[in-house]
Amino acid sequence: MSNGVKKIGVLTSGGDSPGMNAAIRAVVRTAISYDMEVVGIKRGYAGLLNNEMEVMHSISVSDIIHLGGTILYTARCPEFKEPEVHKRAAQILKDNGIDGLVVIGGDGSFQGASRLAENGINTVGIPGTIDLDISCTEYTIGFDTAVNTAMEAIDKLRDTSESHERCSIVEVMGRTAGHIALWTGIASGAEYILTKEVFKGDFDSVVAKVLQRRALGKKNHIIVNAEGIGRSDEMAKYIQEKTGIETRATVLGHIQRGGNPTCKDRVFASAMGAKAVELLNEGMSNRVVAYKDGEFISYDIAEALAMQKGLDEYLEHITHRLTSASAMKHEK
Ligand code: ADP
Ligand code: F6P
Repeated sequence: MSNGVKKIGVLTSGGDSPGMNAAIRAVVRTAISYDMEVVGIKRGYAGLLNNEMEVMHSISVSDIIHLGGTILYTARCPEFKEPEVHKRAAQILKDNGIDGLVVIGGDGSFQGASRLAENGINTVGIPGTIDLDISCTEYTIGFDTAVNTAMEAIDKLRDTSESHERCSIVEVMGRTAGHIALWTGIASGAEYILTKEVFKGDFDSVVAKVLQRRALGKKNHIIVNAEGIGRSDEMAKYIQEKTGIETRATVLGHIQRGGNPTCKDRVFASAMGAKAVELLNEGMSNRVVAYKDGEFISYDIAEALAMQKGLDEYLEHITHRLTSASAMKHEK
């Protein structure tokens, strides 16, 4: 029996990520186990303002745990930043008898959840983004699938790069954070990993490294570039001009956001979805679910949004060791 809210809404907001469906499933099924009613709100905050709602039952979330994307659709809703709109949205929820809301998305979506909490709706956020750029949590739903997708794509690129003895610049997603670049770069054995956090625009150091590695006998070169730096075509032209090695740029783009979620994403999404509803059942509000030191916990949204997270320092550190020309120094 629920001690907190009686009827909850669930929505997905911002960029989609693989595992969002598994999270929706966990929210719906956990809520039902507490005798709460559940309503799926379509198209994020935009759909909320349009009253796009549908009652969800256990069967509504059957056969979705393995699907990428989000069955509730997602959208961006710029007008949700306006205070007047928060009051209207909270009233729409109240008119539908909804007193709790689970928001699956990123930092922007949590801001919206916080504004609704100020207007009397119990809200809990679940971190869903491929970018891993939510500071309060060590894991965000979709990251594992995205890095595996990018890694597999780079493995394929390496084949053709090797056949043509080329240099390949691969641009991966992450507009504000380089986690995807760092992980896929390490997993793909990239020679250079360019992230906004670390790379200061010294393209000549990239050129020098490619030339060193070519002199040591390498026949292909993989450079992973984070979207936050961008300019991959321009970089390819520069490297080709300076090294004489044919260089191509490939932007992986939205394929990184699609596909069946990995086991890790499904399990984390299931745990985070369940945790969100447990919090609402305990009468908590304005919280965001997080994974920290092996536990599923929660933070106040304002506290969570004030946190800062950089790239993993040790991973960043080993990158240089694993790819430096000095690591091959005894081979010539
Ligand atoms: P993410 O949630 O992945 O960070 P966005 O930053 O695009 O993605 O935010 C998703 C949606 O959350 C926005 O379209 C808007 O509806 C809402 N949102 C973003 N920032 C705010 C804010 N400061 N106040 C209220 N709502 C916001
Ligand atoms: O999901 C996060 C993210 O993939 C960022 O890395 C990227 O900058 C952004 O979404 C792009 O989203 P869209 O193309 O949907 O605006």
